Amino acid sequence: MPASAIVGMQWGDEGKGRFCDLLAEDADLVVRYQGGNNAGHTVVVGGEVFKFHLVPSGILHSNTTCLIADGVVVDPAVLCAELEELQRRGVDASGLQVSGAAHVIMPYHVTLDKAEEAHKGAGAIGTTTRGIGPAYADKAARVGVRIADLVDPDRLSGRLAGVLPRVNALLVHLYGQDAVSADDVIDHVRPFAELIRPRVVDGRAVVIEALADELDVLFEGAQGTFIDIDYGTYPFVTSSHPVAGGACLGTGLGPLDLDAVLGIAKSYTTRVGAGPFPAEADEADAALLREAGQEFGTTTGRPRRCGWFDACMVRTAVALNSASSIAITKLDVLDDLDVIKVAVAYELDGQTLDWVPSDPVDFARCKPVFEEAEGWKRNLSGARKPRDLPPEALAYIEMISTLVEAPVSAVSVGAEREDTVWFEE
Ligand code: IMP
Ligand code: MG
Repeated sequence: MPASAIVGMQWGDEGKGRFCDLLAEDADLVVRYQGGNNAGHTVVVGGEVFKFHLVPSGILHSNTTCLIADGVVVDPAVLCAELEELQRRGVDASGLQVSGAAHVIMPYHVTLDKAEEAHKGAGAIGTTTRGIGPAYADKAARVGVRIADLVDPDRLSGRLAGVLPRVNALLVHLYGQDAVSADDVIDHVRPFAELIRPRVVDGRAVVIEALADELDVLFEGAQGTFIDIDYGTYPFVTSSHPVAGGACLGTGLGPLDLDAVLGIAKSYTTRVGAGPFPAEADEADAALLREAGQEFGTTTGRPRRCGWFDACMVRTAVALNSASSIAITKLDVLDDLDVIKVAVAYELDGQTLDWVPSDPVDFARCKPVFEEAEGWKRNLSGARKPRDLPPEALAYIEMISTLVEAPVSAVSVGAEREDTVWFEE
């Protein structure tokens, strides 16, 4: 497929990174299109664990070019640390490109994120406190700093002169903190800017030219559909567009140029941070899933909230993303269960809903209607072909496929590249 996207069908942490790594093998260009280092994409190769926050998960393939595109927010210190770590581990990241139009997470964005969360008290979003929201807020308010500004000292001074009075008004008068000076900010970011400058490209031109040359381009989403700023459970969302449409908004891809969308859904559901979660399991079942699935945040280490597969959510995500097929990850986490619950619809005010309602207050009031699937009570970790899967596991996959109205093209049964069962070539 010349142009395809990988998107999260739930609340993030579905396992997009591992599928991005797999599909990147055949890709000429891998493009990360939104989010920042709030993401944590885990890729395991030969027992070695890589955790990517900003660098596209295609980086382990030496024949693939990686691009951090316009729609991403880049913390320069984090990017440089990630590149240094890759170099230390012998991964060639010399070809990584960063779009000049990507916005920069400045140190004051991180300070503001923490202060805003503390200020909200019980109403906190539960952000990753990486400065994501404040950086996108400045972008929308047209006072942001872009990578092209960061690497040009004159432009950087000019942008800071525009934004720092606003930042300092908030820091000092609302949050009772010290003001920041332009000199301190510039001194902090300068060494990172020097390292990033040689990597700066016109991201959209890179994408347009790759598509014109009919190269294989893979668009990598971060987070998931239900923390999309518009389609998610607002205000408990991230500040960007994880949905497939975000690949258009954030890279230079036109809407008709996407040939396939692979939706990634975990075989159960997790969520980090606050907000509605109708299919959340009771604490005993949640603890089982959390332990078996090692559901602790890659970025923050927080325990994730756990629940059952919610077919309503994924059905809605299939529609919102034009998912051509879905991959079900971590199927092996369910190995020991006698019965597996699946939310198939919601009850709200005496009505049955087949879709996630757009009002998050209604969504929070939805009562899931559960159906049960039989557990397979077998270790799936060695499965490589559909015929290696027990009938109960195949029935679970078939049930999900029917409920979400999309073919299942793959399942994963472990963290390594080879722990993947493909259902079609
Ligand atoms: P922010 O993106 O740090 O502003 O956080 C906003 C919400 O999105 C919080 O509930 C976070 O826990 C959640 N979030 C952000 N990034 C991820 C991710 O990569 N996986 C899962 N949840 C995330
Ligand atoms: Mg993650």
